[in-house]
Amino acid sequence: MDEKKAKQQENKNRLIEEEKILTVMTTVNPGSSKEALLSALYPFGQMIEKSGVVAFPTETVYGLGASALDPKGIEKIFIAKGRPSDNPLIVHITKTEEVFDLVESVPEKGIQLMKAFWPGPLTMIFKKEKIIPDIVTAGGDTVAIRMPDHPVAKALIEISGVPLVAPSANASGKPSPTTARHVWDDLDGKIHGIIDGGSCLVGIESTVIDMTLKPPMLLRPGGITQKMIEKVIGPIQRDEQLDEIYRGNSSKKEPHFPGKVRSPGMKYTHYAPKAKVLILRGRREKVIEKVQEMEKNYRESGQKVGIITLDENLKDYEKAYGKIHGEAEDICNNPCIRSLGSVKEVEKMAANLFAILRDFDQTDVKIILAEAVEDREMGYAIMNRLSKAAGQNILYVDEEDRS
Ligand code: TXA
Ligand code: MG
Repeated sequence: MDEKKAKQQENKNRLIEEEKILTVMTTVNPGSSKEALLSALYPFGQMIEKSGVVAFPTETVYGLGASALDPKGIEKIFIAKGRPSDNPLIVHITKTEEVFDLVESVPEKGIQLMKAFWPGPLTMIFKKEKIIPDIVTAGGDTVAIRMPDHPVAKALIEISGVPLVAPSANASGKPSPTTARHVWDDLDGKIHGIIDGGSCLVGIESTVIDMTLKPPMLLRPGGITQKMIEKVIGPIQRDEQLDEIYRGNSSKKEPHFPGKVRSPGMKYTHYAPKAKVLILRGRREKVIEKVQEMEKNYRESGQKVGIITLDENLKDYEKAYGKIHGEAEDICNNPCIRSLGSVKEVEKMAANLFAILRDFDQTDVKIILAEAVEDREMGYAIMNRLSKAAGQNILYVDEEDRS
């Protein structure tokens, strides 16, 4: 882009930014009949037709939708989120056949994965067709496609009559929204509509796999695990960055929060609450002991700590701090302790993660100490998001775990 054009674009963005939009929010019951949903969502389909942007629930997280064929609407998504324009978007469809109009070809393994996991939390990357505007793919020649498994998402795509691009409906850098309230907190006055269809069941974003590579490559872990994919199409590869993120950067040295820590993983810092996050890994007893020791130090220096733990460990903290109030009671003690859930229900742990990170933003907690979770099933995806929220700051409390 030459300088004059870039300046023009900048001015245009500023104008759009300054225009405060009246955000319309409507609650719908995802259990309603399809006809009722289509009729309730009609006004939102109209907004999308007029290049507006509308937040809607999916089974993973809330998405911020615009027509995938309308660069004008898509531009507004980037502006509302403050998203860098080099980050491509996922195109959402409701019928499998639609994929063939949007991509050059679908390899056999892609068909097998569609049959196994669509609709559902799996996004596949293929070579794009010309019909997909460059703004969707950040100028690249591949496009990400997903078929969400949520009645409201499906009805919105259907009533809009076009595939919808939808990044997560958070301000860029924030944890993804799992309720309409989260969307409102980030984007009120910046988008045209919010459809409230309750909380998202999966709670973390879809698995992303690049089907243009041989073997296909896992780019983002999510609700559909590597094991589940390999059961269907055999061995896949994993983006090596994923294991780096999982291991983190930190050594045994404790970082000094807040302010002083230089986060070498800045480019990975997403999903970040206002407070600094540190993950502690190691044997259960050692982790709990270290959390309490660090909490004491921070408290003595006047900094309130948040702790993310698991149901199974709550009793250990109750011994030290007395009764712990649950989220529902809306009380945040010092330290403020939140449980992801029981280790026996890793899906529920995933579903709670972003809401808990966002809850800390409503408190005066300055540092969040999060216990690492096991890497099995969705645990790998949970650790991916937690590690990003922590800017990859992971403290290994004993040597054995360093793998
Ligand atoms: O669960 C989800 O996938 C949610 C819901 C709303 O569907 N959407 C979502 O979108 O998480 P977003 O934009 O927040 O994340 C999309 C991810 C980004 O990391 C992006 O870089 C990657 O997918 N992506 C999209 N298109 C790509 C492409 N052509 N090649 C490589 N990565 C791509
Ligand atoms: Mg996102």
